[in-house]
Amino acid sequence: MPHLEMPTPNLPEGHPDKEFFNPIKKEAFEWDDENYDQIPDDVFDMLSRNDIEFLGKGTECLVLTLPDHPEKAISYSFENSYEDFDVLRAKTSFYTHKIFNILFPHNFPKIFAAFGADGDKNKGTVRERVFDAGYGGRKINHPFMKVHDFFRFVLGVRPEMFIDTNDQNFALSDDGDEYYVDLISSSGFGEGSIRKVLSGAEGRILEYMDKNRNAFGFTDDDISKVSGYIGRLREFEEKSQQSTP
Ligand SMILES: Nc1ncnc2c1ncn2[C@@H]1O[C@H](COP(=O)(O)OP(=O)(O)O)[C@@H](O)[C@H]1O
Ligand SMILES: [Mg+2]
Repeated sequence: MPHLEMPTPNLPEGHPDKEFFNPIKKEAFEWDDENYDQIPDDVFDMLSRNDIEFLGKGTECLVLTLPDHPEKAISYSFENSYEDFDVLRAKTSFYTHKIFNILFPHNFPKIFAAFGADGDKNKGTVRERVFDAGYGGRKINHPFMKVHDFFRFVLGVRPEMFIDTNDQNFALSDDGDEYYVDLISSSGFGEGSIRKVLSGAEGRILEYMDKNRNAFGFTDDDISKVSGYIGRLREFEEKSQQSTP
């Protein structure tokens, strides 16, 4: 185990320092998702020296708090992850999560930044940190189940195509908001593009928002933002079709 000596990170809003995360990311890929006990003490020491909390890891990324911003989570993608976090995926995730945060503010944390890269470069997201209060006996005020219904009945696709339903990807806040703390798959786990699904369903999505103005408090501004973000996704989809005939 090499000793981890980290430079003090100096992170402008939403943009991680390239050098800071590289050594820890290389090691973190090997850690067992289910057993954080094996994370080396010097990693925890280094993180706490820099005021960084470890939030979790999956097969795709390591998630830490942003130094000096304990209310923000930064995910840091591994190179050998299942869906490479290239520029297209970063842009797709960014706008997809902007849309879902407007549609389901109690189930999707805000996304502040997404940075993709081809090859060995910094890639990941900055998201609102969810304070996981645990499920034990707590009332769920905003169950994630209604997102599943939205996928089925408004988008017309199986939710499991885009949502990784592993328990680790859900966190219940103190207020009873059930959050999805992973990213929506942009390739539908190989079954279809989220860009295509959202652009194809734009009419139904906007109608759903219009009908639920009173029930969920959607405003004209929300509706026009969602429509704008879907427009971006449609552009990306058209471009990606042109580049891969
Ligand atoms: N916004 C967040 N707030 C708090 N913890 C988070 C947040 N995002 C992710 N995590 C934690 O990090 C873990 C890994 O993140 P996730 O995006 O699911 O990575 P992967 O795609 O590798 O599964 C999650 O299971 C969760 O414990
Ligand atoms: Mg996960």
